[in-house]
Amino acid sequence: MRARSSWMLGLALFCSACEDPKFDSPLTLGSGQVVPPSQLKAGYEAYMQYCRPCHGDKGDGRGYSAYGLRPPPRDFTQQKFKFGGVNPENLPPDSELKRIVRGGLHGTAMLPWDITDRELDAVLQYIKTFPKRACVEQGGKPEECKSRWETEAPGTPVAKADPKYEGQRKTDAIEQGKRLYHAKAQCSGSCHPNYVTHQELFEISKAMTGTEMTAFSPEMYHAQPKDSEYCLEWKAGWKKLDERECALPVKVMPVDFTRDPVRAGTSPAELFRTIGSGIGGAGMPPWTGTLTDDELWALAYYVGSLTDLKGTPAVKALHQKLQDPANLAWLPPPKAEPAVPGTPAAPGTSAPSAPRSNTPSR
Ligand code: HEC
Repeated sequence: MRARSSWMLGLALFCSACEDPKFDSPLTLGSGQVVPPSQLKAGYEAYMQYCRPCHGDKGDGRGYSAYGLRPPPRDFTQQKFKFGGVNPENLPPDSELKRIVRGGLHGTAMLPWDITDRELDAVLQYIKTFPKRACVEQGGKPEECKSRWETEAPGTPVAKADPKYEGQRKTDAIEQGKRLYHAKAQCSGSCHPNYVTHQELFEISKAMTGTEMTAFSPEMYHAQPKDSEYCLEWKAGWKKLDERECALPVKVMPVDFTRDPVRAGTSPAELFRTIGSGIGGAGMPPWTGTLTDDELWALAYYVGSLTDLKGTPAVKALHQKLQDPANLAWLPPPKAEPAVPGTPAAPGTSAPSAPRSNTPSR
């Protein structure tokens, strides 16, 4: 028994030694950062101690503790990030990756890590080495296996300082955010749940977009699951990172703000950043550019007000109001018959030009 366990220990040491990646020369990663081999070695050591159980020896998200975790740990070979705080088409800068590792992601196995700055700096450089190594291991040529970390500069963070709305300004922002959420920004409908009655939704849509809804989906008060770009299993036989095809995509569930933990935080500034930058690979587009900063703050304050309701009697009352049979049965009054061509419309009754149906769909 004793001989056997010491043999197993020897094998474990032998194998971890043989997997120890060799970094003989500096690597240029991120925006031209030259990373010396000593830092990559320190990063490897910190990674093996803290991150490997979930993110795996090869950084592919398949560590021994990863089995069955939802969401699954990030596969760093994919070079895609959800909460990078930049346009998801860009890689996140180290400052944003540090925020994620230090703060953790609420409601997931990604806990906040209280490691030294030196370890954190090193581990972030180390995780950038996984994509190329995965590609070379597949038989790809090193020059064709260049990672995005080697060729691209990271994006610019969208974060802004919280305007700290108070009193009436805050109430107005929340009201504006509620209208934006349910109409212009289309947060609800096919992703997140709605939090207003049929009648309120009809009125908000009409006032904001001119659309007169004619029907309501029975699913409108539930989040709708989505396929994401994250991958649990790749099809075999790839040789270039951007040619990989996914055999098993990860499904993601948009957050219900009155029930679920919100991964990257619920303060107005955190929500502004998540809504502004979108959630990479998970179908949530970046809203900066489409919405003004004022509108983004309004949304952040509204979503924050929903998360504040969690666990209070008010949230129970809201859910009861929405699930009330009278609400679920509410339909807009039938529209007046369109005027027969040639007959002049009575003043004040002309309908807005052909309203689009905005029925929330799955
Ligand atoms: C107990 C499991 C676990 C450990 C240990 C762990 N992580 Fe994670 N990590 C996760 C999970 C799960 C996610 C995916 C969360 C999601 O998709 O919402 C994640 C996501 C990430 C992301 C991606 C965030 C994004 O915006 O896409 C980074 C970066 C990361 N982890 C770094 C680290 C580092 C560095 C360490 C070690 C210091 C570490 N993790 C340790 C489970 C873990």
